[in-house]
Amino acid sequence: MKELTIKKYKSSSERIKEALNNPNAAKLYIETYGCQMNVADSEVVNSIMLDAGFAVIDAPEEADIIFLNTCAIRDNAEQRIRNRLNALNVLKKKKPGLIVGMLGCMAERLKNKLLEEEQILDIIAGPDAYKSLPELVQEAGTGQKAVNVLLSREETYAEISPVRKDANNVTAFVSITRGCDNMCAFCVVPYTRGRERSRNPESILREVKEIVSEGYKEITLLGQNVDKYNWNNGEVNFAGLLRMTAEANPGIRIRFSTSYPQDFTDEVIQTMATFDNICKYIHLPVQSGSNQMLDKMRRGYTREWYINRIQAIRKYIPDCAVSTDIIAGFCGETEEDHKDTLNLMADIAYDFAYMFIYSERAKTFAARKYDDDIDEETKKRRLTEIIQLQQELSLKSNEKDVGKTFEVLVEGVSKKSADRLFGRNSQNKVIVFDKIDAQVGDFVHVKVLSCTSATLLGEIVK
Ligand code: 5AD
Ligand code: SF4
Repeated sequence: MKELTIKKYKSSSERIKEALNNPNAAKLYIETYGCQMNVADSEVVNSIMLDAGFAVIDAPEEADIIFLNTCAIRDNAEQRIRNRLNALNVLKKKKPGLIVGMLGCMAERLKNKLLEEEQILDIIAGPDAYKSLPELVQEAGTGQKAVNVLLSREETYAEISPVRKDANNVTAFVSITRGCDNMCAFCVVPYTRGRERSRNPESILREVKEIVSEGYKEITLLGQNVDKYNWNNGEVNFAGLLRMTAEANPGIRIRFSTSYPQDFTDEVIQTMATFDNICKYIHLPVQSGSNQMLDKMRRGYTREWYINRIQAIRKYIPDCAVSTDIIAGFCGETEEDHKDTLNLMADIAYDFAYMFIYSERAKTFAARKYDDDIDEETKKRRLTEIIQLQQELSLKSNEKDVGKTFEVLVEGVSKKSADRLFGRNSQNKVIVFDKIDAQVGDFVHVKVLSCTSATLLGEIVK
């Protein structure tokens, strides 16, 4: 009879330590930009490189290989990375054998063009090419430029156990889908991350179990649009995956991001309401409050539809926090459209928002079909108005919490004082409080005593 070989599961820290004990291992340093998806991807890259015999370290000066895992969502994200490459030139001059690679969305977007523009680069690897990184490094080691920007319809890195390096050992990301098929007019993601695909639910549940066995207390299920999670033609949908994850891990907090208004179902809301360990927080990007803009953005929903989703959330989960993404100054946006965004924000009273100026991205529907016709000054002014309003809304939302007591998962020591800790409540709000005898990773009850627009301040109650 054929013997089953069961690979012993090793924790991230064991794997990192083992590699460091090998004096011959080449040293890799990874810097991550952009979204949570990229953070999760860098953890997959850690795993692939450790398996191939590399060591992963924290200090770029000591590295033999440097990877920048990049973002392309807006032009300023790419500018930041180009500036970083310039700074890395100093290291490359000191150490000519240093290999520098660009991974992620900017690598995928610009492909070989980058090799002409950024002399320092030896490797270009897109989001679906990470399994080939050890070979690309080898190729680069012979003095050649190494490129793999192939996108895949299947790759989900399902069987790879990500190595969480800079983690607090309390909260972890687990990716459940890759890519995006929505094709919103402004968004470059479908071009940089390819087609939408879902990861095998067994591999997701296994990874969550592994992380929980390492002591993690909170899992965030990640995807560009988690609501489109679909395994085996509807056998498991997102609500089903959420339920299975929550059921299998009582006492562990479950979060997810990002949801999409068009696809966000009552079934998901009811699943959130049913399980205590699914956090009462939902990030539901609206982008604009104007139907004309939503239509031009090709978002596939109206303002009324969006408001209906918020009402459904509040009906089933009255204490649910809601945050959003907003774009200011999209093509053809009138003052009226902008006001519709402001009045929608006020009507919904978001707890939190990520707010951006529209940045045209080549290849997208908007870049091909519309004029980027709102001048920079107007874009900035509108963004400022949006930010100011959100600050007021966040402050009001936080003021409502003063006097309430929340269960808080302690994530770390406050940057300002070693005697203070910070953590989050179920609603994803940051709370700072005196340490007393609590430890990072504990669940504690904290009574909110005061607040700013960004933070709640409180004290532990027994
Ligand atoms: N310009 C500005 N913001 C953008 N986003 C996506 N594409 C662009 C763009 N071209 C924003 C959206 C999205 C978030 C991740 O980034 O608000 O939800
Ligand atoms: Fe971009 Fe739209 Fe996909 Fe989000 S849902 S990643 S905004 S195309």
